Amino acid sequence: MNPARRAVAAEVLAAARAHDAAQFDRLARFRNVEPETAELLGVLVRAARAVRVLELGTSNGYSTIWLADGVEAAGGSLTSVEIEPARTAMARANLERAGLAAELVTGDAGEALRASADGAWDLVFLDAERPAYAGYWPDLVRALRPGGGLLAIDNAVSHAAEVAEVTALIEAEPAVTTTRIPVGAGVRLVVRA
Ligand SMILES: C[S@@+](CC[C@H](N)C(=O)[O-])C[C@H]1O[C@@H](n2cnc3c(N)ncnc32)[C@H](O)[C@@H]1O
Repeated sequence: MNPARRAVAAEVLAAARAHDAAQFDRLARFRNVEPETAELLGVLVRAARAVRVLELGTSNGYSTIWLADGVEAAGGSLTSVEIEPARTAMARANLERAGLAAELVTGDAGEALRASADGAWDLVFLDAERPAYAGYWPDLVRALRPGGGLLAIDNAVSHAAEVAEVTALIEAEPAVTTTRIPVGAGVRLVVRA
């Protein structure tokens, strides 16, 4: 990522953290990924040469900036889904500031997955409401590209109990290989065979 974009991303994160610090209600917070997780996303998109990328949980677009930058380098396209319209609008403004393109959709992550074709995505970043993840799993694994489609799930360490159900489903699925890496809040990586 070039220095100008890095500066925009850092400003977006700083503003979100200042906002979040004043919120008692968890759902009112933007809850951006840790900076090292954002960098990891940029690396993963490039390493996987992912050209069809889906993010579930846009928030203000901080992680979206890092995914979009990787997708631009890979010559692909990014779709990001957020349930709150005001956040989609904020993410749109933040991506514009960074000079980046993405299809920003206001909608439900589960519906976006159900509407995804088999093998539609080279990379999916899942960062929405954790209790729903286990219900997403059948569509997640179906919509990942066979032969290397990559799923990344945030908060695999910080909220291990909340992702325990989807983790059990992942670990029981013979068609994937998985590991958990201690970056940021912990990231579960899943590759479809
Ligand atoms: C942890 S935040 C995402 C942070 C973002 N990925 C980042 O690091 O910049 C989770 C976001 O998911 C959104 N969300 C919650 N439930 C959702 C759903 N069912 N479909 C789409 N978005 C949802 C929330 O409004 C919130 O903005």
